[in-house]
Amino acid sequence: MSKQYSESCEQNKKPILAVIKPLLKSAENILEIGSGTGQHAVYFAEKMPDIIWHTSDCSEYLEGINCWINDSALANVKKPFELNVTHSSWPQLKVDAVFTANSVHIMHQLDVGNMFKGVAALLQTDGDFIIYGPFNYNKQYTSASNASFDGWLKNRDPLSGIKHFENIVSLANEAGMVLISDYEMPVNNRILHFSKKR
Ligand SMILES: C[S@@+](CC[C@H](N)C(=O)[O-])C[C@H]1O[C@@H](n2cnc3c(N)ncnc32)[C@H](O)[C@@H]1O
Repeated sequence: MSKQYSESCEQNKKPILAVIKPLLKSAENILEIGSGTGQHAVYFAEKMPDIIWHTSDCSEYLEGINCWINDSALANVKKPFELNVTHSSWPQLKVDAVFTANSVHIMHQLDVGNMFKGVAALLQTDGDFIIYGPFNYNKQYTSASNASFDGWLKNRDPLSGIKHFENIVSLANEAGMVLISDYEMPVNNRILHFSKKR
């Protein structure tokens, strides 16, 4: 896969950085799940030079992520490794936090549960798990555009789609994490910040 470009990454990277930078102020190693094009990784690594940003994704994305990393010439963003949260072995990596953007609505419900289990096994107590994307609340879409986006997702893959906030919090709790904050983000997205407690 050649170098890919996502316009939504360009639009959401600054608002995401504004929320996550203070949350990650004492973090040294971050794992990103579903790095996608690689744009977020390069931008966040550039803006948070004290952090080592580890990228990962399903195999078909790795070459494209590498293109962004090679072009950036940044030393603190690491080449991607294959991580499908359901089908891959999880890495032996010591990380202070895990970040993922716009992946939960692409994943099947089983994948989301597996992601929480894998992240919980990776993090130390008080480690952070930060998730960016759209969620439903009280079984309701938060906007007409999210409803239409969910229809488009399910038409493409019936097992994908926008997940319920309450279910995500339950999965986190089962994995030993608690919700610390839920941030409202532009264009009907959220940032959910979890911390591992046991
Ligand atoms: C819409 S893209 C988002 C990419 C990027 N994070 C962004 O915000 O632009 C969804 C990402 O989720 C990843 N993803 C979907 N299912 C996955 C799974 N089971 N394990 C790991 N990543 C997965 C895809 O490979 C893809 O990179």
